[in-house]
Amino acid sequence: MCGIVGYTGPNPALSRVIEGLRRLEYRGYDSAGVALATEKSAPLVVAKKAGKLNNLESSLTSTYDNATSGIGHTRWATHGGPTDTNAHPHISNDGKLAVIHNGIIENYVELKEDLEKRGHTFTSETDTESVAHLLSDEFRKNQDLAAAMRSVCKQLRGSFTLLAIHSDSPEHIVGARRNSPLVVGVGDGENFLASDVSAFISHTKKALELGQDQVVDVTPQGVSVTDLEGGAITPKAYEITWDAKAAERGGFTHFMLKEIFEQPKAISDTLLGRFGADGKIECKEIENLSLDIDRILILACGTAYHAGLIGKYALEEWAKIPVDVELASEFRYRKPVLSKNTLVITISQSGETMDTLMALRHAKELGAQTLSICNTIGSTIPRESDGVLYTHAGPEIAVASTKALLTQIVALHVVGLYLAQEKKTLSASDIVLIREEVLALPNKVEEILETVEPLRTMTRGFKDSTSVLFLGRHVGYPAALEGALKLKELAYMHAEGFAGGELKHGPIALIEAGTPVIAILPPATSEISEKMLSNIQEVKARGAKVIAIADSTTKLDVPHVIRIPQSLELLQPLLSIVPLQVFAYEMAVARGNDVDQPRNLAKSVTVE
Ligand code: G6P
Repeated sequence: MCGIVGYTGPNPALSRVIEGLRRLEYRGYDSAGVALATEKSAPLVVAKKAGKLNNLESSLTSTYDNATSGIGHTRWATHGGPTDTNAHPHISNDGKLAVIHNGIIENYVELKEDLEKRGHTFTSETDTESVAHLLSDEFRKNQDLAAAMRSVCKQLRGSFTLLAIHSDSPEHIVGARRNSPLVVGVGDGENFLASDVSAFISHTKKALELGQDQVVDVTPQGVSVTDLEGGAITPKAYEITWDAKAAERGGFTHFMLKEIFEQPKAISDTLLGRFGADGKIECKEIENLSLDIDRILILACGTAYHAGLIGKYALEEWAKIPVDVELASEFRYRKPVLSKNTLVITISQSGETMDTLMALRHAKELGAQTLSICNTIGSTIPRESDGVLYTHAGPEIAVASTKALLTQIVALHVVGLYLAQEKKTLSASDIVLIREEVLALPNKVEEILETVEPLRTMTRGFKDSTSVLFLGRHVGYPAALEGALKLKELAYMHAEGFAGGELKHGPIALIEAGTPVIAILPPATSEISEKMLSNIQEVKARGAKVIAIADSTTKLDVPHVIRIPQSLELLQPLLSIVPLQVFAYEMAVARGNDVDQPRNLAKSVTVE
């Protein structure tokens, strides 16, 4: 949601800012804008347009090469529709100060009333515009933009990343963050501020983490960080471990397809170093946590929530610890009973999802130990957790999560095996057997991807369906939920996942002649195999067109069978989900949808 870029240095700011915004497009947006300081103390050059970045670019009449500092924004509308006027930046009445914002200013109505009484004129319907007016008043007091930002932040309620520029001090870009993401990119004689590192990855791999309620002031020569009282802070520096190529399409038609095909590597990278030569499971990340755990609670949103639902089965079976999985957005408003013996695991690709972050804080307040599973180094959720296990999926650009999900599931498997080893709830030989199966997963995913063409052709035949149902039991049930979520996100079709056992309690009424039903079958040795086969008969008898996903142990008499390699039942979602991702991808392509940036969706949901 909302991408933010700030640049100051000797190079033309416009091209640096636009490049950054392009790299942040994946976050999801509906309008874009820039503000550039072209001349000291003159009004800033401001351009903003509803729609995609191309609209903004074609509205620009110059490359403004004399502007060496600027800020840019991609907006995902909350307060006020996605119009040119509501797009950011928002400017002060003298046109010398501009602000961009990600988040929500909750007290904007009262601020606006007050500012209007003081003579400020508003032009947009946004909550952000009040900040521009407030900042210009504060700046006038002592001509110090960072001091003005500190003072304004104290007056704001809500969550925000803010960037501001003023033409009286044109080399400075000032930022602030509370509950929303902001990182610093430290270049050679040039510096960047951005929502995430992908915005500046082609210029520098050096980044600085910013904490809660901190204000940062960057010039081409330096970066200074303070708290809201003006006290100096030394931010934590880190190196970005991937390069710009990893965040480019590399010959694939869409990022999503590329990311689906990167899954074998993403799983291998996440497993790297987990299995010692002596057969031991390595999980240093939780060594410092107390293993006196009597309950695990997994909190997440979206696809990451499905990772939790899938991981629960293995964690309980291997580590013999009760596991609950809850949507972070529900948990954060409950008054649950937790103790120091509860291990709360938050799962988040971005590490910035607002509901997951707030749920984490809620869990900490209630006394639980916290571990995060995250794909983004230096992001807020891992920084605030007692322990962190990083997945190594690399940058995930497509809005619909694919490779991050598979790495989240294997990360939960690593935790489950580690706990089983430490608590001795699995024998050494069982651990070895599971370990071998886990290590075989990348090749098995590869095998699925090598034989995916017939599935793509078959999917196109269902392009005009109005509804697709997904059926599974045991770990196949959350896999079915994920299949349905992917199809909704990408194909904009009605899709629902059901537990096979619930079929007769309602969902079967949805079946009409020709309704596609995707059934996820367990290995034939599973106690639920025959139950799923009966479910298939029941939907077939009512006219459903069944597409079965199964390994070679199950004999099937349905129009379409997608074969996946054999694995342990608990690990099977890591294989069965791959064809579901391809199905959703191909359906979106066939229906002419924007695969990488589906309508109304954002990659990282940083507001409630
Ligand atoms: C958004 C994305 C999903 C993602 C979810 C959670 O809805 O579109 O793909 O699963 O947020 O994101 P997180 O970064 O916390 O994993």
